[in-house]
Amino acid sequence: MGCPLLRNAFAGVLLVLLSQASSAHGGEFGHLPDNITVLEGDGVTLRCQIDEEVTHKAWLNRSNILFAGTDKWSLDKRVTLANSNNSDFSIHIEKVQVTDEGPYICSSQANNNPRIANVYLIVQVAARIVNISKNVSVNEGENVNLFCLAVGRPEPTVTWKDQKYGLVSDGEFLDITEIKRQQAEDYECITNNGVASPDQRKVKVTVNYPPLITDMKNMPAHLGKTAILRCEAMAVPPASFEWYKDDHRPVESDNTLRIKNEKTRSLLLFTNVTEKHFGNYTCFASNRLGASNASMLLFRPGAIQGRGAGLHAGMSVWVSLSAVLLLKL
Ligand SMILES: *[C@@H]1O[C@H](CO)[C@@H](O)[C@H](O)[C@H]1NC(C)=O
Ligand SMILES: *[C@@H]1O[C@H](CO)[C@@H](O)[C@H](O)[C@H]1NC(C)=O
Ligand SMILES: *[C@@H]1O[C@H](CO)[C@@H](O)[C@H](O)[C@H]1NC(C)=O
Ligand SMILES: *[C@@H]1O[C@H](CO)[C@@H](O)[C@H](O)[C@H]1NC(C)=O
Ligand SMILES: *[C@@H]1O[C@H](CO)[C@@H](O)[C@H](O)[C@H]1NC(C)=O
Ligand SMILES: *[C@@H]1O[C@H](CO)[C@@H](O)[C@H](O)[C@H]1NC(C)=O
Ligand SMILES: *[C@@H]1O[C@H](CO)[C@@H](O)[C@H](O)[C@H]1NC(C)=O
Ligand SMILES: *[C@@H]1O[C@H](CO)[C@@H](O)[C@H](O)[C@H]1NC(C)=O
Repeated sequence: MGCPLLRNAFAGVLLVLLSQASSAHGGEFGHLPDNITVLEGDGVTLRCQIDEEVTHKAWLNRSNILFAGTDKWSLDKRVTLANSNNSDFSIHIEKVQVTDEGPYICSSQANNNPRIANVYLIVQVAARIVNISKNVSVNEGENVNLFCLAVGRPEPTVTWKDQKYGLVSDGEFLDITEIKRQQAEDYECITNNGVASPDQRKVKVTVNYPPLITDMKNMPAHLGKTAILRCEAMAVPPASFEWYKDDHRPVESDNTLRIKNEKTRSLLLFTNVTEKHFGNYTCFASNRLGASNASMLLFRPGAIQGRGAGLHAGMSVWVSLSAVLLLKL
């Protein structure tokens, strides 16, 4: 086996076999290659049926000899002889790589009769996302451009899915022009090539906007009882709240009044309503994108029915007048 002369003789025979193999072109001895599909990283055995009379046999990767008989020519540790007897001559490739893809030839000779078996090794790679946009935070009205890069063999498809509306957009890029606050959500990139289960990842898109006060009511209150004023504001990032009374005096907590700030709202909790509590309260909600204010009354019941207070400076004249009357009672 270590004898160079023998090796050269072998090589000579193989070269003849090889030239015959390449000229066979699917003719007399050749036929369309069988495809063997294997997942990257897996092992694969390439089998070759031979006749009893075979005198020479070899496995080739393209034009490189891997095995000449039982003599290993390949330097690749992953390539081993799986079986060699009178009827079967098989090699095994461990941890298949993408570069292993291609034609493999089992060449044999019996009674000066060359035989060629072609095998085409197809290496598949499960679709995988390799790079994707980071979570983004933008202001309402800005454009958002997301990308999702995937690899795989065969070439995978890439789609973006809108989680909220279930809309799908094909391709690696998702462009949203002049984004609206309703479009703030998790966008999901899905890649698939049918080799394994699809790979998917989410990108969170945060849309910032200034506070918008949505809920506030004039509230009746009885002396000596409890009462609540509410100011609800939608905002991203969440608003911080301040309260002012009548002449813009800041409202502060004391033993009869507590300010309770939550994520989307602020509450004025009156634990024991007294005369001085009645009046016009202004809630001021702000974040780094802007501010908004709204006013509401804490009033003595009977005189006026609580009505949705104006969200703007110009409140309904009716409410204003009533309030003035109220405060003078
Ligand atoms: C092998 O795969 C190729 C490409 O995918 C295909 O065109 C050919 O028909 C396949 N051959 C056989 C024998 O299945
Ligand atoms: C050759 O090996 C194959 C696979 O191990 C086996 O099925 C077959 O019986 C063997 N043939 C001979 C002649 O030993
Ligand atoms: C087959 O040949 C290719 C190209 O020369 C090489 O990259 C690959 O490692 C070889 N594979 C085996 C199993 O010999
Ligand atoms: C991902 O893509 C971004 C933008 O194209 C690039 O700056 C970054 O280096 C990429 N990251 C990796 C790990 O390839
Ligand atoms: C991006 O947003 C997703 C979905 O909300 C979250 O699970 C993930 O932790 C975020 N990633 C980073 C890097 O903040
Ligand atoms: C509410 O305040 C008034 C006047 O300060 C006091 O007389 C009354 O006891 C208080 N009521 C309660 C329930 O604390
Ligand atoms: C309250 O809002 C009105 C418009 O809704 C605005 O004109 C006014 O300046 C605001 N007040 C404050 C103190 O920001
Ligand atoms: C309450 O105060 C605000 C802000 O000062 C003012 O715009 C509004 O007209 C007042 N409402 C009443 C009913 O007085």
